[in-house]
Amino acid sequence: MAHIFLLILFFSSTISTYIHACNQIERSSLLSFSLALSSPTLNWTSVNCCHWKGITCDQDGWVTHLHLPSKGLKGGMFPLSFGNLTHLTHLNLSKNSLYGSLQTEFFSSLKHLEILDLSYNLLSRELPLYLPSSSIKKLDLSSNQFQGGITSSFFQQTRNLISFNVSNNILSGPFPSSICLKHSSRLTRVLDFSSNKFNGSISRGLGECSELRVFRASHNNLSGFLPEDIYNATKLEELALALNSLYGAISDRIVNLTNLAILDLYYNQLSGVLPLNFGKLSKLKLLNLDFNHLEGALPPIFDELHKPY
Ligand SMILES: *[C@@H]1O[C@H](CO)[C@@H](O)[C@H](O)[C@H]1NC(C)=O
Ligand SMILES: *[C@@H]1O[C@H](CO)[C@@H](O)[C@H](O)[C@H]1NC(C)=O
Ligand SMILES: *[C@@H]1O[C@H](CO)[C@@H](O)[C@H](O)[C@H]1NC(C)=O
Ligand SMILES: *[C@@H]1O[C@H](CO)[C@@H](O)[C@H](O)[C@H]1NC(C)=O
Ligand SMILES: *[C@@H]1O[C@H](CO)[C@@H](O)[C@H](O)[C@H]1NC(C)=O
Ligand SMILES: *[C@@H]1O[C@H](CO)[C@@H](O)[C@H](O)[C@H]1NC(C)=O
Ligand SMILES: *[C@@H]1O[C@H](CO)[C@@H](O)[C@H](O)[C@H]1NC(C)=O
Ligand SMILES: *[C@@H]1O[C@H](CO)[C@@H](O)[C@H](O)[C@H]1NC(C)=O
Repeated sequence: MAHIFLLILFFSSTISTYIHACNQIERSSLLSFSLALSSPTLNWTSVNCCHWKGITCDQDGWVTHLHLPSKGLKGGMFPLSFGNLTHLTHLNLSKNSLYGSLQTEFFSSLKHLEILDLSYNLLSRELPLYLPSSSIKKLDLSSNQFQGGITSSFFQQTRNLISFNVSNNILSGPFPSSICLKHSSRLTRVLDFSSNKFNGSISRGLGECSELRVFRASHNNLSGFLPEDIYNATKLEELALALNSLYGAISDRIVNLTNLAILDLYYNQLSGVLPLNFGKLSKLKLLNLDFNHLEGALPPIFDELHKPY
């Protein structure tokens, strides 16, 4: 009887460790990733990689999350190190010292990747011609040294893109068009292109981003009019286009943006008379129109909001 009991105990414990154990191919993939980097704080030694710091596995032992922000990781981004982590949905390597470029191959085996945060690293060179990922929801490439343009095909496959941040890079050339057009996402809520070197006018198409909440492209070299269809993105809560060379008038249609809380058009060349119905933007908390050529008075209700920062 005791033997049978021990036997059962033995089997159930092997079964349970087996269930939680990580896949050995994934384990060696993670190890080759950590060996390729100088990674002072990783202590990835035990057999079961699902218990390693920064790793989360699903019930079947597949690695789904890799959460290693601010770990002092130094080294090149080698696309193939993640090649065997086919179940990865979340990858956060923010605030490290990773260098090299982001290539299309990086995404080729990561078919389920939804969240990619590579912000605050030293990544450089050009972005891939297109993002070969229809699962990606949130992409943060901000505060790196990416340069060159964003092609019009870049968003072709990103059907589920909700948030895209490339602020604080050295990206240049025309403002990317077709963000929410055709096959790309119409779910996009956040777009941040601030502090780059994009020039020319803001292309049409933003009105197709019917879910857009935040649109930032301050501190670029943008010129031309405020695009008419921005007034169609009626869910917009923040519009920040400060420190550019935008000209022309602010349309009466701005009152269609009833959810607007932040309107920052500081330091452009906007002209004309302020729309009289401005006061209808009842949710406005921050308004900065300083350093433009606008005429007319703001409704007194905005006196308090008119603080440059
Ligand atoms: C991925 O798995 C294949 C097959 O097991 C192996 O040859 C390759 O070296 C692995 N790649 C990495 C980066 O671990
Ligand atoms: C590394 O992890 C092992 C167990 O996995 C632990 O015994 C050891 O103390 C850890 N070392 C450091 C420096 O954290
Ligand atoms: C990545 O991790 C950092 C630090 O914990 C966190 O602030 C950031 O929001 C994470 N990124 C994403 C996309 O969740
Ligand atoms: C984009 O990333 C920068 C940091 O690189 C951050 O300051 C900014 O708030 C982010 N934008 C949005 C809309 O979250
Ligand atoms: C944008 O800048 C590039 C060079 O940096 C220049 O060739 C091009 O004419 C500029 N485009 C516009 C519309 O100003
Ligand atoms: C912005 O573009 C204009 C011409 O379109 C050019 O003369 C100027 O040097 C550019 N400024 C920056 C900071 O690139
Ligand atoms: C904006 O929406 C109106 C209808 O609400 C539509 O007629 C118009 O074509 C749209 N404008 C742009 C530039 O998308
Ligand atoms: C937008 O505003 C204009 C003028 O204020 C108005 O005529 C038009 O009907 C509005 N359109 C929508 C879609 O709300």
